Amino acid sequence: MRQLIAGNWKMFGLTQEAAAIATPLLAAGPLGRDLLVCPPATQIAAVARILAGSPVAIGGQDCHTEVQGAHTGDISAAMLRDAGASHVILGHSERRQNHGETDELVQAKVRAAVAAGLTPIVCVGESDAERQAGWETGVVGKQLKGSLPDDFAGIIAYEPLWAIGTGRTATEGDVAAMHRFIRETLARRFGAAGESISILYGGSVRPANAASLLAVPHVGGALVGGASLNAGQFLEIARA
Ligand code: PGA
Repeated sequence: MRQLIAGNWKMFGLTQEAAAIATPLLAAGPLGRDLLVCPPATQIAAVARILAGSPVAIGGQDCHTEVQGAHTGDISAAMLRDAGASHVILGHSERRQNHGETDELVQAKVRAAVAAGLTPIVCVGESDAERQAGWETGVVGKQLKGSLPDDFAGIIAYEPLWAIGTGRTATEGDVAAMHRFIRETLARRFGAAGESISILYGGSVRPANAASLLAVPHVGGALVGGASLNAGQFLEIARA
């Protein structure tokens, strides 16, 4: 299975900035890994135009559970797809924390994304306090159980909260243990299908640590925040 390097731009990227990140990706050449960029919703269509005909895929960062309706300010999976997206990040910890998203809501969004033809990337991860208490697998296990529908076909991203945007990366040992736990959990629930679900690692992935993190067993790629806002760094990670 090819590894996926996904860039989560979060709430960054006016028109010129988005073009400056996306345009150099056209000249990336063969990488041996797949690339995905997830710009803010306002830039999806523009980035899709820039990257048209290239192998770089485009994703959203969230979607609503419904196809359309009276939901001021929300964006449906069908709208993301219509703008040029093939993927969508769901249940990112910033949405779970800042918007009170529950596992149940994330699961409803996963169903909506799949119904619209998008590949969901479902984020899970424990807080610092939860890890200190030794609850990390319990927390992640509960998130997987609640956030994934029984017919799940998509991607998982393990992002320990204490590693996001902090420069504090999980050790290879932490990542290996958690990715093995997630793989076993998926295999128990989904059987053979669970073996082929990609599990990305996210949290302060940088060019300097990418090669070692991407070499850990059961790591199917990276979900990159800060470093994905710089095309050079993003491509260095993809080549690591
Ligand atoms: P970071 O963000 O790479 O800036 O730590 C990762 C993420 O939140 O997806």
